[in-house]
Amino acid sequence: MNFIALVGTNASFSYNRKLLWFMKKHFGTQANIEIQEISDIPMFIEDAVEVPKRVNDLIQIIEISDGIIFSTPEYDHSISAALKSTIEWLSWGEFHPLTNRPVMIVGASLGNMGTVFAQENLRQILSSPGLNSFVLPGNQFLLGNAAKAFDINGNLIDERTITWLEHCFTAFISYVNIIKPISNQEEKLKSSNSSDKSENKVWTIEDFSQIDADTGASVDDEVDDELEANRLNIEEELAWALDAMESADE
Ligand SMILES: Cc1cc2nc3c(=O)[nH]c(=O)nc-3n(C[C@H](O)[C@H](O)[C@H](O)COP(=O)(O)O)c2cc1C
Repeated sequence: MNFIALVGTNASFSYNRKLLWFMKKHFGTQANIEIQEISDIPMFIEDAVEVPKRVNDLIQIIEISDGIIFSTPEYDHSISAALKSTIEWLSWGEFHPLTNRPVMIVGASLGNMGTVFAQENLRQILSSPGLNSFVLPGNQFLLGNAAKAFDINGNLIDERTITWLEHCFTAFISYVNIIKPISNQEEKLKSSNSSDKSENKVWTIEDFSQIDADTGASVDDEVDDELEANRLNIEEELAWALDAMESADE
């Protein structure tokens, strides 16, 4: 199996990078893990006329992989701005390489909780309409106290931590195999129904102006509902005022 592993930070020193290099080495007989940096990816901007070449290159390699591994730091209980920006590029424009793709999340932080908040944040992001990734359920690999977790060769020290990581990685490989037929089917549907009316189309930001992506309700319908509610309110108020005037006349 071929996985792409994204280092979730633009910092030059990173325990999350160390973790991915350990995984690459440790799981070398089970899978090929290609580590990708995000430090050279420009900040996402919606005004861009085209996707930058570096992002396009990343899209290509993600698309031919069997799955994606994110190693996320935790900044203020969320993922880093650099990682969020990268994901924004990957959920915008013509190609959405994370859509219907199996994803594993791991993370390392200095605190005891080992990126639990950032991982929840990343799960939520990856389930948004422009992404819709298949994130491995459970199997949270949270590496706390990362500064003490590695030896000088970059290996994880604690045997129980390694055993848990092996358990999570094995679960991910099984998950990828289970998800593959669904993922392939979704991709086929996507390409065969690429017209705007398709239920399986990939959402783009342009769609959001016409349709509420979370509820699926058309904005026009919502506006109509609001207008109708206002009309009924006005009618009620008028009726009340007329009643009041008639009572006063009597
Ligand atoms: C702006 C900022 C916010 C941080 N917030 C948290 C946090 O909420 N929880 C936590 O465990 N560590 C936090 N940290 C510490 C990180 O865990 C630590 O910097 C870690 O080394 C980042 O991961 P990395 O080594 O892969 O870059 C924060 C660090 C920075 C710079």
